[in-house]
Amino acid sequence: MQKDLILAIESSCDDSSIAIIDKKMNVLFYDKIVQEHSIYGGVLPELAARLHTKALPDILEKTKKFLKDIDFIAVTTHPGLSVSLNPGIMMANALGLSLGVKVYGINHLLGHIYSLFLDKNALPCHVLLLSGGHSMVIEFNPQKTLEPQEEQNLRQKNENYLTHKNIKSAYAKVLLSTKDDSFGESFDKLCKMLDLGYPGGAMIEALAKYGKNSYHFSLPLNDKNRLEYSYSGIKNMAREYFLKLDLNDDDFKNLKAFSQSFDKKFLDDKVREVCNLCASFQNIAIAHAINKYSLCIENASSLGIVGGASANLSLREQVLNISDKKQIPLYLAPLKYCSDNALMIARAALGAKLGV
Ligand code: KG4
Ligand code: ZN
Repeated sequence: MQKDLILAIESSCDDSSIAIIDKKMNVLFYDKIVQEHSIYGGVLPELAARLHTKALPDILEKTKKFLKDIDFIAVTTHPGLSVSLNPGIMMANALGLSLGVKVYGINHLLGHIYSLFLDKNALPCHVLLLSGGHSMVIEFNPQKTLEPQEEQNLRQKNENYLTHKNIKSAYAKVLLSTKDDSFGESFDKLCKMLDLGYPGGAMIEALAKYGKNSYHFSLPLNDKNRLEYSYSGIKNMAREYFLKLDLNDDDFKNLKAFSQSFDKKFLDDKVREVCNLCASFQNIAIAHAINKYSLCIENASSLGIVGGASANLSLREQVLNISDKKQIPLYLAPLKYCSDNALMIARAALGAKLGV
């Protein structure tokens, strides 16, 4: 019988994940272990690597019954922290050798794009990618592929494409990216200032629901000719507002209690101000993301938002409004698969191999 399964491994940051799909996109196995870096306020690469080394074999153990039917292996090889990527890559290579199958090096960001198409054929779209490491707008067209030589020529003209390592990639041209912090990273840094752990995006979004847009932030790079993102300016403004709040130990305790329970008995004036700051910060961060995205989508046939931060409901709603106004479809990943996962890596590999 022909081998029909794809096994994928993802370990580019702090999530250890393995998925197995068949060539019709049915999911046969999926698991992910989310590492605990909260007390450090960010990912410690060495710790992440050690935790992957423990978690990945634990997950792989559960896939035994599928291994004889694996046709090829997909592993995230770039971009990411190399110490974090290595345990996944080493496992993929060892498994590839023992099963006698090929191992393909998959681009993590292309993986995020395929999270839009986990159960259907991929279609052209202009993608807004917002994660902890990247903020980009990408013109994606799975109906075109780039030959390696062609891609090299385009790179020489300073054009940037997302590509896999040893398998051809769908056309994915980076139209703009960030010159400093990324969208998700700026949320993480604000959350760290508030001493509310890591990652921070979901927490800032949750606190923002209790606040008003009462702090003034100016829109970064507000010039139509600047096709770039920049999140460090608004992060610094948030820090200044935060310092002015002058929170004492009791305020921090109250804030922590509120963030754990969302019980209004902890919502005193100071905590309310923190919520106002989160609401204002989230508002400007999304406004900047959408302002630049809008400059790139005049001729788009459809839209898509991906990356961990694409779970932000306010962001989703605003892009949905654009899609309604332009009367073009918006593709969204299921909330569960917005953050890093191996399923999107398996799906990206299937896309590369079969052009689906
Ligand atoms: O794609 P992802 O899981 O990992 C990277 O490839 O970086 O994205 C994680 C990022 C973190 O910075 C996290 O704070 C952010 O996505 N994030 C959010 C939300 N949920 C996760 N940012 C804003 N709002 C959210 N609801
Ligand atoms: Zn990611």
